[in-house]
Amino acid sequence: MSEAGVMGHPCADLGVVDRFAAALRRAGFTTDGIEAHLGAEVSAALTGGVSWPAAAVLADDRRLSTLIALFLLGEERAVAALEGALSGVGVDELAGQGIVAVADGGATVRPILDVRPYADDAGEYLVFADQDSGRRSGTLAHDHVLGIGGASVSLARAVIRAPVRRALDVGTGCGVQALHLGAHCADIVATDTNDRALALAAATARASGQSWDLRRGSLFEPVAGERFDLIVSNPPFVISRGDQDYIYRDSGVPADGLCEQLIAQLPEHLNPGGVASVLANWAVTDVDDWSARPRRWLANTGLDAWVVQRELADPISYVSLWLADAGESPERIATRGREWLDYFADAGIVAVGMGVLTLRRPSVGGAVRFQIVEEITGAGEEVTGDEAQAFLARQDFLAENSDEDLLAMRLSTSPVMLEEHLLPGDDGWQCVGSVLRRPGGPGAAIPLDEVSRALFAGCRGQVALADLIALLAAHHDVDADALAQAAMPVVREAIARGIAYQAV
Ligand SMILES: C[S@@+](CC[C@H](N)C(=O)[O-])C[C@H]1O[C@@H](n2cnc3c(N)ncnc32)[C@H](O)[C@@H]1O
Repeated sequence: MSEAGVMGHPCADLGVVDRFAAALRRAGFTTDGIEAHLGAEVSAALTGGVSWPAAAVLADDRRLSTLIALFLLGEERAVAALEGALSGVGVDELAGQGIVAVADGGATVRPILDVRPYADDAGEYLVFADQDSGRRSGTLAHDHVLGIGGASVSLARAVIRAPVRRALDVGTGCGVQALHLGAHCADIVATDTNDRALALAAATARASGQSWDLRRGSLFEPVAGERFDLIVSNPPFVISRGDQDYIYRDSGVPADGLCEQLIAQLPEHLNPGGVASVLANWAVTDVDDWSARPRRWLANTGLDAWVVQRELADPISYVSLWLADAGESPERIATRGREWLDYFADAGIVAVGMGVLTLRRPSVGGAVRFQIVEEITGAGEEVTGDEAQAFLARQDFLAENSDEDLLAMRLSTSPVMLEEHLLPGDDGWQCVGSVLRRPGGPGAAIPLDEVSRALFAGCRGQVALADLIALLAAHHDVDADALAQAAMPVVREAIARGIAYQAV
């Protein structure tokens, strides 16, 4: 499917896509070109979803004004203006490919697709998607193809960008994850159940100079018997009673069943040492035991796992978020919202956990080393690919080194900050607790007591940990072995969090 469009769907003629992409680039329709045209502030506002400042700048017939107004803002323009903005491709050809529609007896043109430049460190791309609910009137179509959203970006950031041979994007939509894979994966397979998504992903790949093996089917059906070094997925994870109002959002499987199936089937599609990054939502029936579902998903997978819950939403907030996403009428929102909340009540779902899973198949002959499920909600503590890769490496290091090994090592600390919690008292500020933090590291903060505070202050890469502990024991007049035993859990946690590391 990578060399041909999807018949009966937009952009079926990839020759037109080629000429359209070339014409857009010639007109300066690039991330830099758009920023220069709008100005940095207006451009940043538009990226953040605020379009009215841009609309004011675009009220003229300059080529970029026409293209930005049409393809980013979803506005109508005169056909003559679009003809003037593009060379080498006709408006009638774009209409024939379902990219725009001509109205008013041929006088005006309105966009059907959202077409936008997008860049990462490796390159500049063009992404074809449907217009989101804020850019068009009425509710979304059942086969709506999502553009690049907040979830897409958080998954893209969380993926480990090590060079690999074979990668799979499950539920590719407009192709945003596959685009990022292009920078570090030799062969890319991207799947979707939605033909319209496959058609738009084919256009995205073609217009971005990439080639993916696009396949139709649910979860791993299209790749039966195949294995990959990297699997990424931003699946339709929304928790509902199993309706499928919108393919991009609703799996058609009740509760979090689709995510459960995805995780269960992952191991047989990962090469030894292969990694998966997956976004998921999980049903919570007891907020004090929010991790029950992801733990159960992982139990029989044989995968190493780092699961981070970034948010825990109450049912009303959760349902409201997704009802607003589809641009439905207030009446429909009220009806669907009530039904949705009734389902949550019947199913005993009191909250929904949302997060990212980094999963790894152990290397040949290896056993599971860790399955860590934790909540990290701090702003600036997002899971990034670099952090995930370092987390896996640190877990390996800890699994491969006994306490005796660690005691024989010289440790250093990363760039860390000591944070003190102080309360006013009779003698001025009293320290009631302190925390050692590696800024920007997800969950990279450990509470310290007086002894561990002194211990990490001494980790300068010069003295073996055992000797440092002996010095501290002598200073505090306690037994060195007992102190070492007491210190090792916090030392291990500091290493796990990238706060301390073996000095070289
Ligand atoms: C939330 S969108 C993600 C799109 C894109 N990968 C991203 O990161 O923005 C989910 C995608 O999964 C597709 N999908 C829905 N059900 C699926 C299934 N059972 N198997 C594979 N893909 C599915 C939808 O059509 C949609 O394109």
